[in-house]
Amino acid sequence: DRKHSDALAVESMRMAMETVPMDGAIVIGEGERDEAPMLYIGEKVGMGPGHLQVDIAVDPLEGTNLCATGAPNAIAVLAASERGGLLYAPDLYMEKLVVGPTAKGKVSLDATVGDNLNAIAKALDRKVTEITVVVLDRPRHDQLVADIRQAGARIQLIGDGDLSAAIAAAVSGTNVHAVMGIGGAPEGVISAAALKCLNGEIQGRLKVDTNTASREKAEAMGVDFGRIYRTEDLAPGQHIVFAACGVTKGNLLEGVRMFGHGIRTSTLLLTYASRQVRFVDTVFVTSGENVTVRF
Ligand code: FBP
Repeated sequence: DRKHSDALAVESMRMAMETVPMDGAIVIGEGERDEAPMLYIGEKVGMGPGHLQVDIAVDPLEGTNLCATGAPNAIAVLAASERGGLLYAPDLYMEKLVVGPTAKGKVSLDATVGDNLNAIAKALDRKVTEITVVVLDRPRHDQLVADIRQAGARIQLIGDGDLSAAIAAAVSGTNVHAVMGIGGAPEGVISAAALKCLNGEIQGRLKVDTNTASREKAEAMGVDFGRIYRTEDLAPGQHIVFAACGVTKGNLLEGVRMFGHGIRTSTLLLTYASRQVRFVDTVFVTSGENVTVRF
């Protein structure tokens, strides 16, 4: 039940935030105040004034369809920073190009798909045929898919979840070398927070909305539709924290596993200032005193 799963994820994240000693503000959330009961943009979270001021971007269930169908890579995710450290991106589409540390600085959204793939291959010391690009499986990407095939690279089409694909692109050994195509702008900002911590790169260009009202609203927020936003523009914070917890099993994280007496989760925790990448494996014992925890 995708709606129910999403609502539970939102509620759980919101409740957990209440226990954190911070003066938090949601900058990317579940929508505007009138359309989202919790974790709406502008909502104050945490213990409130007097504590550290924090901006937070959340996606409590990234890949609701993936969760509902048991497909891989659904995650619960958030990024946080000092105030002003994450771009207030409107809920528009964003054209994205994501690469890992080795190809960072060698690609451009203004270049052709073929040129970018050649640059990635050269940086990784591989042939273009050995590069895998993740693309959201959408009709809007027909030309992009044709261009990638023309260049000779491999394509992994995904139903949803370009955020976890972006993380995978920055981690060596996942066999994901780039993410290309148009996805959500809020996911682009959260990806940028992770990529900054992982020394990867995202470039994003916001797509003009055909709806005049939402385009004007975005422009009033300061959105420049022609501009290429880079990792630093999307996530300028110096004290970024990023956390993603696997909901269904994915490239990097296990999903939530239930066993007789508890629940086991797998979380990726990144902190920019201290340059730490932590994989946290947690067992929540839910019943009884006399419980055996398996390795
Ligand atoms: P949800 O978290 O709302 O399920 O979004 C999943 C997602 O696939 C994102 O990863 C992606 O950026 C966006 O939706 C793509 O939007 P669309 O489904 O409209 O093409």
